[in-house]
Amino acid sequence: MIPQVKCLITGAAGFIGSHLVDALLARGATIVGIDPLKLGTRRNLELALQNSRFRFHEADINDLARCGQIIAAETEANPFDMVWHMAANSDIRAGVADPEIDFRYTFLTTHSVLKLMREHKISNLAFASSSAIYGVHAGLLHEDLGPLFPISNYGAMKLASEAAISAAVEAFLGRAWIFRFPNVVGGRATHGAIYDFVRKLKNNPSELEVLGDGFQEKPYLHVSELVDAMLFIVDRARDRLNYFNIGTAGSATTVRYLAEAVVKRMSPRARIRFTGGHKGWVGDVPKFNYSIEKLKKLGWEPRLTSNVAVDRAAEEIVREAH
Ligand SMILES: NC(=O)c1ccc[n+]([C@@H]2O[C@H](COP(=O)([O-])OP(=O)(O)OC[C@H]3O[C@@H](n4cnc5c(N)ncnc54)[C@H](O)[C@@H]3O)[C@@H](O)[C@H]2O)c1
Repeated sequence: MIPQVKCLITGAAGFIGSHLVDALLARGATIVGIDPLKLGTRRNLELALQNSRFRFHEADINDLARCGQIIAAETEANPFDMVWHMAANSDIRAGVADPEIDFRYTFLTTHSVLKLMREHKISNLAFASSSAIYGVHAGLLHEDLGPLFPISNYGAMKLASEAAISAAVEAFLGRAWIFRFPNVVGGRATHGAIYDFVRKLKNNPSELEVLGDGFQEKPYLHVSELVDAMLFIVDRARDRLNYFNIGTAGSATTVRYLAEAVVKRMSPRARIRFTGGHKGWVGDVPKFNYSIEKLKKLGWEPRLTSNVAVDRAAEEIVREAH
């Protein structure tokens, strides 16, 4: 079990980061959150900011001087047990258009985190990686698959981050946990298909344009289950370098289902117009099939199917948009 730890969380104001903050606070942890509020928001931290065990800094983790000062001041009072590195550019499409974005926010943030951890002697790291590292594969995606050829800069920079973490484990880290997330959905979303559909319908309640033919199919995991799985893994996986796919109960959801789930709740008369074609956008992996056998062996199983996770998330995101 994670003891009553002191944690640093990068990307703390983001979608997943803010849910993780809430879950760790509920377990009694003390948390220092860092986020420049590029994609995340203070609103996501509304609950946490009322807790005296949470301290938030609007800062970029690549600003080593500033973050070094924050960590040094905190360490003087009480050292950190662990870093949860959730910061990245989560806008994959923006990264396809400009590779610099993923270099700075998806890879360099990892390099900066490792540098700060080495300097301030923090030895445990949990890292948000992604199914995007796998690229396009016909078969089941399991953790020991290779060689890996991602098809987006985002996936490439996540894979490079995993490699840097592996080298850091050899050099100075005590332990690392790498989580390969599928598509994660839920309230406080800052991006993603459901979020985009809600925004589009707000602008035009009579029609929803959907990229592709609607048959792209992916597993979606609700954020509550994702956070539960991460905590479970950190509590129990004891290798020095631990790496796990986190996914849903053997199911996937089509983009068509996603669009209908939003339309139904937000604007039931809207027409859904598919632009056609087999991919949504360059860098998008149209279908994938995730193995979570390794995680099941450790003892964690998802409770929600992908469709149920999508329905729950659509409900939450539509409610927040009103
Ligand atoms: N949501 C998903 O479906 C999904 C899937 C796979 C992996 N991930 C990964 O999970 C993590 C969290 O993603 P999310 O969906 O919550 O996205 P998000 O954009 O809501 O959260 C990321 C946060 O990181 C912050 N950030 C960006 N650059 C930073 C920097 N230089 N220093 C500090 N903070 C910085 C952003 O402001 C944002 O608040 C990311 O690493 C993402 O790549 C997410």
